Amino acid sequence: MKKNVRDINIEDRRVLARMDFNVPLQNGRVADDSRLRAAVPTIRYLRDQGARLILCSHLGRPGGKPDEGLTLRPVANRLGELLETDIKQIDDCVGPNVINTVESLRPGDVLLLENTRFHIEEEENDESFAAQLAKPADLFVNDAFASVHRKHASTEGVAHHLPAVTGLLMDQELTTLDELRQHPQRPFAAIFGGAKAEDKIRLVARLIEHLDLVAVGGVVASTFLAAGGFFVGESEIEERSLEKARKLLEQQGEKLLLPKDVIIAKSKSSGLQHKTLAVDKIPPGWCIMDIGPETLNLYLERLADMRTIVWNGPLGCFEIPPFNEGTEVMAIGLVELNATTVVGGGETVAAIKAAGIVEGFDHVSTGGGAFLAYLENRELPAIKVLKESEK
Ligand code: 3PG
Ligand code: MG
Repeated sequence: MKKNVRDINIEDRRVLARMDFNVPLQNGRVADDSRLRAAVPTIRYLRDQGARLILCSHLGRPGGKPDEGLTLRPVANRLGELLETDIKQIDDCVGPNVINTVESLRPGDVLLLENTRFHIEEEENDESFAAQLAKPADLFVNDAFASVHRKHASTEGVAHHLPAVTGLLMDQELTTLDELRQHPQRPFAAIFGGAKAEDKIRLVARLIEHLDLVAVGGVVASTFLAAGGFFVGESEIEERSLEKARKLLEQQGEKLLLPKDVIIAKSKSSGLQHKTLAVDKIPPGWCIMDIGPETLNLYLERLADMRTIVWNGPLGCFEIPPFNEGTEVMAIGLVELNATTVVGGGETVAAIKAAGIVEGFDHVSTGGGAFLAYLENRELPAIKVLKESEK
């Protein structure tokens, strides 16, 4: 087990804490604060223990230079509200100003550094940049579970320069997902939808021996349908995964649940004409927008026998009503089942929030790509370095 913040003395220490504050913004405000709420217990704990707290995070993909649209200021505002405290801010994450500001912090104070990705060295995991990040602190806490698959200066490099431990969110995510990965109660099912079908199809191929059922929607479903010989019209598919999907259908077809009926539309803009059809009736020029009602019933019926269910990726274009229906009805159906239910991924979590049933799930991960990488057992650089740091 990796050391966490509870295992060490924090009092009066200058703690650099890497959080994942990569949240959606809208008109200069935080549009979904789930990741901020998830970070609150660690921040509270560190403040209560008398730490002088330096928070850092990336936000979006500014490409290594400052970008006014991706400043962490909106995050500081929302976080301040959640913690009922004033969050100090600074317009950079390294340099003499940061050092001076940290010197003036008192125990319990919270400083939020500016977006680490405003420096190209962050994603390059530049050694001297990592050393600069570490400089004002005497302890590193990594609580950014959603970024554990990234080998960047603030997630990996910095841990070579300071004693490093995990935060409470990181611990909770790792413990839950470890259990899921090592001893899932069977029968064990996965539901995959949304985009990034390549990652998900690879994950299905990797986990298929441990899975009893895989239900699909979104681009993942369109790709499997195309691989199975169905005509999918204008639906987006993942060309690079067709071969892998074809093999899976051939070898493990009985475990794979594909849509029987779908809702299709002529384009992805709103106010569209749409209809429900069997998957073998899709006409040219149309694209799949959601799974159909017969498919939903079939999926929920088969999922009812499962003891563990993981879900990543919406089943349709949930951001354009009425194509959110498949995803929402699935969410409502899942929480009724007698299974351990685990959800991950920004879009999936947004969809279940829209359905108003986040609390019904046993675990809602803050990770998207990280959640998938963890399940797949890929090496996670941000975790590896913490383990090494312990030795
Ligand atoms: C995420 O949202 O998945 C993490 O914050 C990582 O962001 P990234 O995909 O831009 O590295
Ligand atoms: Mg992401």
